[in-house]
Amino acid sequence: MIKKIIPFLIVAISLSAPSYSQKKAATTPVSIDEKVNALIAKMTLEEKIGQLNQYTGDRDATGPITTSGDKVDQIKQGKVGSMLNVRGAKFTREMQQAAMQSRLKIPLLFGQDVIHGYRVTFPIPLAEAASWDLDVIEKSARIAGTEAAASGIHWTFAPMVDIARDPRWGRVMEGAGEDTYLGSLIAKARVKGFQGKGLGNLDAVMACAKHFAAYGAAIGGRDYNSVDMSERTLWQVYLPPFKAAVDAGAATFMNSFNDLNGIPATGNSYLQRDILKGKWGFKGFVVSDWGSIGEMIQHGYAKDNYEAADVAIHAGSDMDMESRSYINNLAKLVKDGKVKEDLIDDAVRRILYKKFELGLFDDPYRFSDGQREKKTLNKPEFLAAARDVAKKSIVLLKNENQILPLSKDLKSIALIGPLVKSEKDMQGFWSVDWGKEDHLVSLFEGMQQQAGKTQLLYAKGCDISDTSKAGFAEAIKAAQQADVVVMAMGEKYDMSGEAKSRANIHLPGIQEELIKAIQETGKPVVVLLMAGRPMVFNWTADHIPAIVYTWWLGSQAGNAIADVLYGQYNPSGKLPMTFPRSEGQIPIYYNYLSTGRPAKDDQDTHYRSGYIDMQKSPRYAFGYGLSYTTFEYSGLKLSAAKMGLNEQITVSFTLKNAGNVAGEEVAQLYLRDVVARPVQPVKELKDFQKVMLKPGESKTISFTIDKEKLSFYNEKIEWVTQPGEFRIMIGGSSDAIRLEDSFNLVD
Ligand code: GLC
Repeated sequence: MIKKIIPFLIVAISLSAPSYSQKKAATTPVSIDEKVNALIAKMTLEEKIGQLNQYTGDRDATGPITTSGDKVDQIKQGKVGSMLNVRGAKFTREMQQAAMQSRLKIPLLFGQDVIHGYRVTFPIPLAEAASWDLDVIEKSARIAGTEAAASGIHWTFAPMVDIARDPRWGRVMEGAGEDTYLGSLIAKARVKGFQGKGLGNLDAVMACAKHFAAYGAAIGGRDYNSVDMSERTLWQVYLPPFKAAVDAGAATFMNSFNDLNGIPATGNSYLQRDILKGKWGFKGFVVSDWGSIGEMIQHGYAKDNYEAADVAIHAGSDMDMESRSYINNLAKLVKDGKVKEDLIDDAVRRILYKKFELGLFDDPYRFSDGQREKKTLNKPEFLAAARDVAKKSIVLLKNENQILPLSKDLKSIALIGPLVKSEKDMQGFWSVDWGKEDHLVSLFEGMQQQAGKTQLLYAKGCDISDTSKAGFAEAIKAAQQADVVVMAMGEKYDMSGEAKSRANIHLPGIQEELIKAIQETGKPVVVLLMAGRPMVFNWTADHIPAIVYTWWLGSQAGNAIADVLYGQYNPSGKLPMTFPRSEGQIPIYYNYLSTGRPAKDDQDTHYRSGYIDMQKSPRYAFGYGLSYTTFEYSGLKLSAAKMGLNEQITVSFTLKNAGNVAGEEVAQLYLRDVVARPVQPVKELKDFQKVMLKPGESKTISFTIDKEKLSFYNEKIEWVTQPGEFRIMIGGSSDAIRLEDSFNLVD
């Protein structure tokens, strides 16, 4: 019996047993590329075009789509690849179920502007940049990504990495300020924060570096306006943070509304194909900004949506956000022979690849889990982290007679101003999923938590933008009854942000008159300034002894501010943007070129580069910020006076906390290439360290200078290093250089 069976067994086994190569094939996982190609092979042209089409949900993005017509039907027909402004485990699941009714059941991507927090609102990005603390910035993005992913979101349209030198532009609040070096490090930190341990993890969302490119240089600081700059400035100043985002593994990019030298970014193949996908080898996909493909008609770059779609797909815009140019025209463009199908395949491939990476083909609902959402949002440790980064983002601008920190023994404090009790304004412009039951700690509440026996008086004094002085008397009375006055002044949450450019960036309304009136009572006055941008407030800066810039600090604003005012936390923030004295000085930034007639100082105006009616210097410089203690810089040493092209120099010095409270200092290294072609800025930030020192403690700080820090783009856009003298400048602000020396770079 056995004999008979054996041959059968052998045959059976050999039939059923896979050959070695089959076994190997069976055990070797199918690559995502292979899965993508296999899927594309099954797709019709219409289904491919559907993947390039993105629609928005309704304003209230957690409920059914009502005002947008047939979008759900189109999802079911496989005509939609992604939705934005659809959030929440429940609603994203519902929308995904609609996608599962399509022929090929390709899951949707859900995108959202998670700019500074999802449920827990963090300080606006410009405020976080003022912390110069890359760890807390990354952590802030990590928490935002975790909360968003728990709510069905796969993709955030952040970080915004636009360099901005013009505070009239309302979107400065979303970025990291004016400096390319700091902005590049922050871009990397935020991409890493959002993407965490990598796509596919249930707490990771795709990052989206935006707005590509040079959107922050809008002429006149007027949002959506043209950008006109030399190719060298583009490469030297505006592109590096985007390259940093690519190097950090950013999954996606978003292009920008502006034209760059006459070519709209969304139709700009130099930007999207030559640079991003070509030179930088970017493998992710590019989503257009809202309607920007169709807006090429308004730009005057395309005569209709048919032409706009043609230009955009050729220029490397992969996904069309809300312009419907692709869904309505690409098939015809292919049939008319204007667009090759493999161009569409490339865009589809990039998008499907991300959907596979996110695990959405394994389980389209894996991010839409109501239990996990409930467990994840608003965790106490997330609120604690928001408070931590908020207090580290606060910048102390002035503190004469040491009014700050406030004593707990004060009998009474008068809290005066339109932002003392504000909650909505502390959320900033891009607060996302603010729950009705969510609670923002206002300044008033934060002070109540920490005031102890001190009596708190309150008077609003005036509104943010009004001209009525009706509230002044009550405010003056409150001030007269108090030992100290703390005023909370500034912008409303929607006076900075998208489409919120201001030609006049003074403190709005009659707020500065209220400050004057309170100052006239003779009481010690502390002014807190809350805004999404640098403002102009010269009278206050000249006459008020204590000034603190608190930006918009999010959920824990009041606690963080009280922590600083009472000295629980010694302020350590440094300005990531220059503060002008007047709009007339803009654009004004620290890393300017010398010119042939540099002014030695503000008085040096005789045939020098300056103004006859105003100082040339800014009100507050890039990198400026005070502490409740003082720091001393001494003992600068260079490891060598000469450096070969492939060598390094170590710069070291002693930093001392010369005061009687512990504090953090951001020691900044600036370099100048003294003679170069083309000319180089009078100084550029090339490194920094944020150091905590106890009272009296000293520490040796070292920076390494290598070729990379000495290189720049020449007029041919070549990355070059030129021998010669380099100045070294070290200090706690770009205008407070404490140590200087120079070295020679030799061939
Ligand atoms: C907006 C913004 C962009 C945002 C997008 C989606 O117009 O320019 O930053 O991500 O549309 O809301």
